[in-house]
Amino acid sequence: MLPSVLPTESDHVPVLADEVVAVLDPRPGETVVDATFGAGGHAKLLAGRLRGSGKLIAIDRDPTVAPYFERFRRTTGVKARLLHGEFSSTLEQLAGNGSQADVILLDLGVSSMQLDRPERGFSYAADAPLDMRMDPSATYSARELVNDSSERDLADIFKRYGEERFSRQIARAIARRRSKTPFERTGDLVEVIKAAIPAPARFGDGHPAKRVFQALRIEVNDELGALERALPAALEMLRPGGRLGVISFHSLEDRIVKRFLRTAEHGCTCPPDFPVCACGSQPTMRATPRRAIRPSAAEIARNPRAQSARLRVGTKVD
Ligand SMILES: C[S@@+](CC[C@H](N)C(=O)[O-])C[C@H]1O[C@@H](n2cnc3c(N)ncnc32)[C@H](O)[C@@H]1O
Repeated sequence: MLPSVLPTESDHVPVLADEVVAVLDPRPGETVVDATFGAGGHAKLLAGRLRGSGKLIAIDRDPTVAPYFERFRRTTGVKARLLHGEFSSTLEQLAGNGSQADVILLDLGVSSMQLDRPERGFSYAADAPLDMRMDPSATYSARELVNDSSERDLADIFKRYGEERFSRQIARAIARRRSKTPFERTGDLVEVIKAAIPAPARFGDGHPAKRVFQALRIEVNDELGALERALPAALEMLRPGGRLGVISFHSLEDRIVKRFLRTAEHGCTCPPDFPVCACGSQPTMRATPRRAIRPSAAEIARNPRAQSARLRVGTKVD
């Protein structure tokens, strides 16, 4: 059981905050779903636009956001509820129950609170149990992934989700070390990764374990699978004219969102060599604006975590 942590001033800073509010444009009486509640920074700004009428549904798979939600509820006068769960299955359930929304936001990845609490095992900068579960009640952690996956699967994960150049060398070094002693702590893994990377490549391009840690986190939490499943569920839940915003932090996520919006805008799913449309599918969304919104230089200077953020927005067509 993780200790409950009280909100502080240095909590997660919401990225692209002004842009999110401007393009998602919540209006009084509307229903907003913040599917990645975190510290509630975006939720607070979006709820402010409801001017006391309307409601906000918060979702997060991490139960330690509860004190942040309590703070949110105390300080914003809107009707709100927190649903603990994975956003794709929660959105599917809400849509299946006939719940509708006007605004849905997904701000992907981990929060600063998750990264900064060493006991969560997300950080290569502190020695901690090898964990990385966003939902601490999930059965599969980085410990199982690192100790039980085949060497080849590990190399694939490091390459695909971390774009790690030395994926095979690192996977081999992990397999060699765990045949003697299984990995229990992040510190041991960092040491093995460092030793597996040729010395000249260890410097520059960030911390040598950064890409492997990103890859493990994505796999442990099935982050790309969750996003793939969440987008159609969000579309189903939106009312006509409703807005879906997704903030992604790496190209794998952004590609999924971009492809989803392009298909939704196009409608027809017939193979390109069909002379006429046989599927009859109509466009369901418009990308609004057409291109991804990026943070300003001033925001990146204030909050370096915003550097790789991309916001894409789609509006459901009537
Ligand atoms: C980047 S933070 C969101 C920060 C938030 N927008 C704010 O302003 O404080 C991402 C949050 O989403 C949650 N999360 C990530 N993927 C999730 C998923 N598939 N289902 C539910 N929650 C998820 C994480 O636990 C984390 O709290």
